[in-house]
Amino acid sequence: MKLSKVSVEEDERNKRQAFIDTPNFFLHNHKLCNYKGFWLPENVVTNVELLRDGFTPRPTDVFIASHPKCGTTWLKGLAFAALNRTNYSPLTSTPHPLLTLNPHECVPFLEVTLQGMNLSYVESMSSPRLLSFHLPPSMLPTSINDAFSNCRIIYVCRETKDVFTSSWHFYQTLMESVGMKSPLSDDFFESFCGGRVPYGPIWEHVLEYWRESQQKPGKVLFLRYEEMIEDPRRILKMIAQFMGCEFSKEEENMGLVDKLVELCGFNRLSNIEENKNELIINENIKIKKSLYFRKGLVGDWANLLTPEMAQRLDEITREKFNGSGLNF
Ligand code: A3P
Repeated sequence: MKLSKVSVEEDERNKRQAFIDTPNFFLHNHKLCNYKGFWLPENVVTNVELLRDGFTPRPTDVFIASHPKCGTTWLKGLAFAALNRTNYSPLTSTPHPLLTLNPHECVPFLEVTLQGMNLSYVESMSSPRLLSFHLPPSMLPTSINDAFSNCRIIYVCRETKDVFTSSWHFYQTLMESVGMKSPLSDDFFESFCGGRVPYGPIWEHVLEYWRESQQKPGKVLFLRYEEMIEDPRRILKMIAQFMGCEFSKEEENMGLVDKLVELCGFNRLSNIEENKNELIINENIKIKKSLYFRKGLVGDWANLLTPEMAQRLDEITREKFNGSGLNF
């Protein structure tokens, strides 16, 4: 089934029109639309509704979930490498897909059509499938979110100031690359704080997954970018265990875990020639693959934010996460 074949009800569409905002930082004329409390690109809202009716999860499916700029690309690489290590082992001479494909091409987004990878592509994938979305749990098809469906979700979040910084650079570079002057700065900061960025507000996004992971620990694995940076080896092993393909002692002794961490490391992935070229998202959007690799550091916000901006984001984060048991 192709996403475009299913129609969206007209009155629902009209209802949403009332909430459409046109923040002037946003790209390619894709308006943001407030849908169930989150700001989504308009085309994504349509796809969310199509997924609800048209997507059938398999019990073996694993989903990578995140708010944009939290380390999605890296997590996709690690999970893909772990899940497919029998067919593609860095300990053999078999060429690894991650040396010629961007992680986003190995693990397709469900709600964003990427290089023609629509639902029919996803349906043709063999099990176990590794798929992804930026959607919050409340927006997932019930078939995925259902505690009894057995499919699993790995979520990665990141410290808010660094997410803002990474997003700022991403949209800035993206707009420049399509010849648009970027009026980011203050507008973008205000939009971010108000949650009016793609898939925002980030705080609610993180909180929804945090609660899911507390209630259903076998279904949702909650990770932080900072702990991936601190100990990628431990996180890779944790991811493999969660996906049901734990590393054996023998594999560890052979150095497989270290090799996979190295394969997905920032320096390695960002220097692969394939990761520097254009990646076509759909007919309207072309994103250079190199945009997904910038610095890969913790705390780079200090090079962009004023002390006042940093304080404001910290205050919002403290207030929103208060009482949740979640802190950074
Ligand atoms: P920075 O902009 O702070 O450098 P996403 O994949 O969700 O879009 O997140 C992008 C962020 O993850 C960017 O952060 C990018 O540099 C970082 N990143 C990408 N690949 C990485 C890797 N292999 N290791 C560490 N960070 C990585």
